[in-house]
Amino acid sequence: MSHKPLPGFRDFYPDQFAERAHIFDTWRRIVRRYAFQEYDGPPLEPLELYTQKSGDEIVTQLYNFVDKGERPVAMRPEMTPTFARMVGARAQALRKPVRWFSLPQLFRYERTQKGRLREHFQLNVDIVGEADVMTDAELVSVAIEIMRAFGLTHTDVRARVSDRRLLNGLLEHLAIAEPTWPAVYAVLDKLERQPREVSAEKLAEAGIAGDTAEVILGFTSLDFATVQARYGDAPAVKPHLDRFAQYLAHCDALGVGAWMRFDLTIVRGLAYYTGIVFELFDNVGEFRAICGGGRYDNLLKSLGGTDLPALGFGMGDVVIGELLRSRGLLQVSATPPAYWVAQSPDAPDAPAAALRTASALRSAECIVEYALKSQKLDKQLEAGRKAGAGAFVIVDPSSADAPWRIRRAGHDDQTFFTLEALTAWASSHSGTPA
Ligand code: HAM
Repeated sequence: MSHKPLPGFRDFYPDQFAERAHIFDTWRRIVRRYAFQEYDGPPLEPLELYTQKSGDEIVTQLYNFVDKGERPVAMRPEMTPTFARMVGARAQALRKPVRWFSLPQLFRYERTQKGRLREHFQLNVDIVGEADVMTDAELVSVAIEIMRAFGLTHTDVRARVSDRRLLNGLLEHLAIAEPTWPAVYAVLDKLERQPREVSAEKLAEAGIAGDTAEVILGFTSLDFATVQARYGDAPAVKPHLDRFAQYLAHCDALGVGAWMRFDLTIVRGLAYYTGIVFELFDNVGEFRAICGGGRYDNLLKSLGGTDLPALGFGMGDVVIGELLRSRGLLQVSATPPAYWVAQSPDAPDAPAAALRTASALRSAECIVEYALKSQKLDKQLEAGRKAGAGAFVIVDPSSADAPWRIRRAGHDDQTFFTLEALTAWASSHSGTPA
């Protein structure tokens, strides 16, 4: 029997769990500041929830099986279909806009590599019920604010942003027929990662003439001002440019303008997106996407629910963890005890006095540990040092006036207390030794 978990799955030993907790705490702290409320759904869903609505890539990566009741089911590979199903089921009753977040563990059977595992935790932040572009700006600003909270700046990370409606308008303006758009999307999605000739070949296969193909291949280098200057008068494009300009202005006002980069190659692999889409990347280009999302206005309706506009993003714990670690911004470890309680085993009231002391300190919300057996005092203190205790409480009720001695780790001076004074002092120091 191997001691290793399955490929692409992780054990979280306490120090790694502390890193995960830091990431989760930061996510929760920021999204709550934006008035999002937490929800969750089942980790196992009917298979058809994904086969119809997610992108092909995710569907080929499903962990699926037939359960004992003959139902085809799948472990959730993403949260959006569950979210859409849950909101759809109560669409009438919910206050709009719905602003919800979740921290699900997701499962995708993909080739494991740097930044890609077979399970990951993913912060999902979604808004339903508002079509205004102010909502798109609100959404991306949450993702960016999270980067700030982790200690990153716009020189570390950028949000690459596009709009599927704008892209469709451009393709229409270039006289490319709608059935060909998915092929163009697929090429744009891979433009950075595959050789230019391969992209050109794929466009030719899709029946796109050489000149037009060149224009599409040139989309990589276009900034927003250039697109405005070049296509601003095209009726199929103009309304989408105007909306996008408004979006950028709102992002500026929300204080995240410096992080934004217009980028027509961001199309997102998932099938349901309909509007503004974005992904966050590190500026060095060292890691995969930190986060991705966008507007998916038709998903709720197509899952048989009410016709409501929606948008959201997912941010995994793996890539952000790698990025923070590489920048020295994830220096957390498991929490050591604040107090280590010790008592000489020869004392007449040992170990009861030590146990009463630990109990009193825990009631004062302190993190307390002690040796779980009778031991020489030296051994107990040595165990406390190994545990990384912040302070030692040495119990000696035979000393009449102040039978509780406190010594901070790494210090020689001691303070003497009664038990009442000790717990009062510990409470006033918010559970940690000063
Ligand atoms: P996604 O682009 O598939 O979107 O995933 C979002 C993020 O989750 C990625 O940018 C990446 O950080 C992380 N991620 C995805 N797959 C893996 C993996 N195998 N290992 C580690 N991390 C991974 C979605 O899932 C959409 N449902 C997001 C969304 C929410 N859109 C609207 N609302």
